Amino acid sequence: MGIDADFRGGEEIARMLKKKKDKYEKLSEKEKEDFDTEALTNPYLDSRILNIAQDKEVKKILIGVDIDPAELLLAKEIGNIDLIISHHPLGRGLAALSDVMELQCDILEQYGIPINIAERLMKERMSEVARGINRLNHRRTVDAAKLLGLNLICLHTPCDNLSAKFLKDKIEQENNLMRIGDLLDLLKQIPEYKEAVKFGAGPKVFVGEKENRCGKIAVTEITGGTEGSPKIYEKMAIAGIGTIIGMHMEENHKKEAEAANINVVIAGHMSSDSLGINLFLDELEKKGIDIIPCSGVIRVCRTKKTTP
Ligand SMILES: [Fe+2]
Repeated sequence: MGIDADFRGGEEIARMLKKKKDKYEKLSEKEKEDFDTEALTNPYLDSRILNIAQDKEVKKILIGVDIDPAELLLAKEIGNIDLIISHHPLGRGLAALSDVMELQCDILEQYGIPINIAERLMKERMSEVARGINRLNHRRTVDAAKLLGLNLICLHTPCDNLSAKFLKDKIEQENNLMRIGDLLDLLKQIPEYKEAVKFGAGPKVFVGEKENRCGKIAVTEITGGTEGSPKIYEKMAIAGIGTIIGMHMEENHKKEAEAANINVVIAGHMSSDSLGINLFLDELEKKGIDIIPCSGVIRVCRTKKTTP
């Protein structure tokens, strides 16, 4: 599902995997030992199996935007949870978060930013993100899952791709998105955002005014690991982008977008993550799997439950 929703398309992803395979084959035996062989088949290294305590049929899952040892204890308390899914990457998935950021280059190119600029700025930002992650205690939750005997995986970019595709399609289908206010209204029609408004985390204008015209709307900040380079906004403005939609935005990025006269609509973090998670969960539910949402997941079902 993640590949199907990927803005790059299946062919480009197959090419990327082949490139990694070619690179792997050229390595010495010693170098091969340290190579993450998951990269040969999985285009999203921030999404992977983290712990298999027991190889069993999955009938009931606990899923959260963030899974910490606290949620694992919650799973124990609830009981009979066959698998725990964290949306945000953990363990080796977190260590590899910067790897998936490469997809932002292709998205930026699709919106008219020259690939040489996208690649240069992204490379710089990817190494910054990798260094930032380096200091973290990646293994904490995975270690806890081992001790508690729980199955644990993380699914990040595949779900974010689903969110991004959903939002892009929705915006492209709408012909009357003249002003930022119209865009906010459109987002608020989506159940996850509608729900988020109720607890004070609805879509917000970070840069611009509701009365501003949107210009060209770009969905460049929903998927691709984490926030890209703050230097990109000036290039976006030159490429003709008027408004960007993101899940969240740091202050530094906001300032740069403002300086480049780009409007910024922040759809909301938990709600945007939930949107992609829900599209995936609907497929699990069709298979008769029981779902317990936790830790930020706003569960909305778009399909009717059918028992297999
Ligand atoms: Fe997220």
